[in-house]
Amino acid sequence: MKTQDYIAIENEYGAHNYHPLDVVVERAEGCFVYDVEGKKYLDCLAAYSAVNQGHCHPKIKEAFLEQVNKVTLTSRAFRNDKLPMLYKKMHELTGYDMFLPMNSGAEAVETAIKLARRWGYDVKGVEKDKAEIIVATGNFHGRTTTIVGFSDDPDSYYGYGPYCKEAFPMHEYGNIEDLKSKISKNTVGILIEPIQGEGGVVIPPEGYLKAVEQICRENNILFICDEIQSGLGRAGKLFAHYYEGVRPDIVIVGKALSGGFYPVSGVLADKHIMLVIKPGQHGSTFGGNPLAAAVAIRALDVLIEEKMIERSAEMGEYFINKLRAINNPKIKMVRGRGLWIGLVLNTKARPYCVRLMEEGMLCKDTHETIIRIAPPLVITKEEIDWAVATIEKVLNENLG
Ligand SMILES: Cc1ncc(COP(=O)(O)O)c(C=O)c1O
Repeated sequence: MKTQDYIAIENEYGAHNYHPLDVVVERAEGCFVYDVEGKKYLDCLAAYSAVNQGHCHPKIKEAFLEQVNKVTLTSRAFRNDKLPMLYKKMHELTGYDMFLPMNSGAEAVETAIKLARRWGYDVKGVEKDKAEIIVATGNFHGRTTTIVGFSDDPDSYYGYGPYCKEAFPMHEYGNIEDLKSKISKNTVGILIEPIQGEGGVVIPPEGYLKAVEQICRENNILFICDEIQSGLGRAGKLFAHYYEGVRPDIVIVGKALSGGFYPVSGVLADKHIMLVIKPGQHGSTFGGNPLAAAVAIRALDVLIEEKMIERSAEMGEYFINKLRAINNPKIKMVRGRGLWIGLVLNTKARPYCVRLMEEGMLCKDTHETIIRIAPPLVITKEEIDWAVATIEKVLNENLG
């Protein structure tokens, strides 16, 4: 079967909730993916940062296969020998007391919302069912009905109401005065992405995170940081909030926590927050299973031992500077941190992503005019040179 045959089957029998580029990937290794005709592509999306460690990393694969041969799922009705080791590793790596594992990113965000509300009622003393969590314009935290209910992107929320807007007041991302105006006695949390990924790699003004932290401290509010996409090296540090030296009360992680082998997510918090949820009050059949834990432990080891976070910072700077040196009026702005880059165009981005694909480079348009570039963190200087030359070449074409 050829590319077009797979696409025809997918279009006929699969839900049309995505609009993928017409590349049918068959296998992948490191920074590269190969389609069903054997054509090689440089992956500059890394599964939305879930494969920061590179595709099919041999060491993570080894941990995966080893665990598959032992036990994959026990459910949390019983304990397993891998999960405690993941808890300990998360603690040692991040300094948070405890970790609560889930599967998808959205589930972890839901977990953080539950944790903050529960803390609000049990500890802060907020009146029953009145808890508010302040969110930001341009946010993306996942696709559950609660989460899309506080998105301002119609593609995310339209047609899925009723919503619960009063429970999630929205402030303008980066605007501290606006944030202050949204605080009430019922505010239990402020939920933000330290850099907005789906929003197009939007970096807030310097000092914003610090100010959010201060507001939280002054008003007895939990600072909740969604690091699902920005974390685990993508932005050039373990967590993007490290850039401002803040310490959120709850940190949400996912994606690269498994290096792309398996959905693993979760929330980090200290005991005085985490322990407000008691046995039986939250959970997931697959969350914290031995396969997930084994994979996550190794995925974190690889990230640290192979110095991928430092690589992200160094290669990211190189990539961004080279992109900034391109002289083309179609480029409005190049922004980014680590290997997480938003190439903002003055024109529609999708046709250029299609052309880049034809040239052997995969990246994703977002919000009409932005090309998001987020390769696996193992990308080399030579590969970046090639990517920049390819982008320069394609941007010289007029694709309307
Ligand atoms: C910041 C952020 N939060 C949450 C999510 C949702 O994660 P998932 O798709 O695994 O549910 C994403 C996914 O892109 C994300 O970027």
